[in-house]
Amino acid sequence: MQLRDARILLTGASGGIGQVLVERLCANGARLLLVGRDSLALEALTRRYPGQVSLVCADLTQRSGRHTVLDAARRFGGLNCVINAAGINQFSLLEQQDEDAIARLIGVNVTATLQLTHLLLPLLRQQPQALLVNLGSTFGSIGYPGFAAYCASKFALRGFSEALRRELADSHVKVLYVAPRATRTAMNSADVVAMNNELKVEMDDPQQVARQIVHAIAAEREEIYLGWPEKLFVRLNSLLPRLVDQALRKQLPVIKRFARAEQPTPPASQSTSTGEHP
Ligand SMILES: NC(=O)c1ccc[n+]([C@@H]2O[C@H](COP(=O)([O-])OP(=O)(O)OC[C@H]3O[C@@H](n4cnc5c(N)ncnc54)[C@H](OP(=O)(O)O)[C@@H]3O)[C@@H](O)[C@H]2O)c1
Repeated sequence: MQLRDARILLTGASGGIGQVLVERLCANGARLLLVGRDSLALEALTRRYPGQVSLVCADLTQRSGRHTVLDAARRFGGLNCVINAAGINQFSLLEQQDEDAIARLIGVNVTATLQLTHLLLPLLRQQPQALLVNLGSTFGSIGYPGFAAYCASKFALRGFSEALRRELADSHVKVLYVAPRATRTAMNSADVVAMNNELKVEMDDPQQVARQIVHAIAAEREEIYLGWPEKLFVRLNSLLPRLVDQALRKQLPVIKRFARAEQPTPPASQSTSTGEHP
């Protein structure tokens, strides 16, 4: 896809990966419609890229929020790319997690992402060429202790991306699934960072992740897995899962120690406004 001709709707635009994606996509000449709930962060981005970026504040778990996004996309003049980057995570053992937190996580990462895609697909179909990008995770291929609900959500997103790619194979809409490994953003609590340090799990800078996503969009790739050795573990887990079981069994005491220390994250504050800002 030629980025200078791209009209991109980006969810999760106010997040750690989203904000640097905005920088890179704008530098390549794309026009962007940013979606999030944190109006201050989104407004700061629109001030940096006047005329190139518009924003819409919406909670994607609400039907009204998704329809506000659809209306904004129509006023934006159509879209030839949608990037689903909104997501939440909670590090905890399943038994520690409360029911509502599980529903919230699946609600944002899976249900809202599918529902928004369903709503926006007709706009993508109107274009001679279009691309849907879903941000998954290494944890969409490897079940990891302490992240059962998050892994379930990202496995679902990977399945969704694969099925939709095949469903749209006779159309002009392509689907790209991106699986970053752990990345240094607010999504990862201090306990997760400390655990990763102890387990020698590498964490990427969001700039590195954004660079590879932009490359994959320009090159019209269908799937990318970021980070070494994570790419190898993804293959190994699908071919020889018992080997990965053994490796993770050794890490389990450390993971449990950090998970027990983790305080449950309260629900993210809702925006006071839902609406579009040019
Ligand atoms: N960080 C990692 O280690 C990592 C690794 C692999 C994959 N990923 C994936 O990459 C994507 C971006 O992650 P990140 O690290 O940038 O996360 P982040 O910094 O925590 O940002 C999350 C984004 O999701 C948005 N969001 C959450 N709930 C929403 C809702 N109900 N309605 C609308 N927007 C909502 C947030 O918007 P507001 O704050 O404005 O509400 C924010 O922009 C996610 O899908 C994540 O799962 C992250």
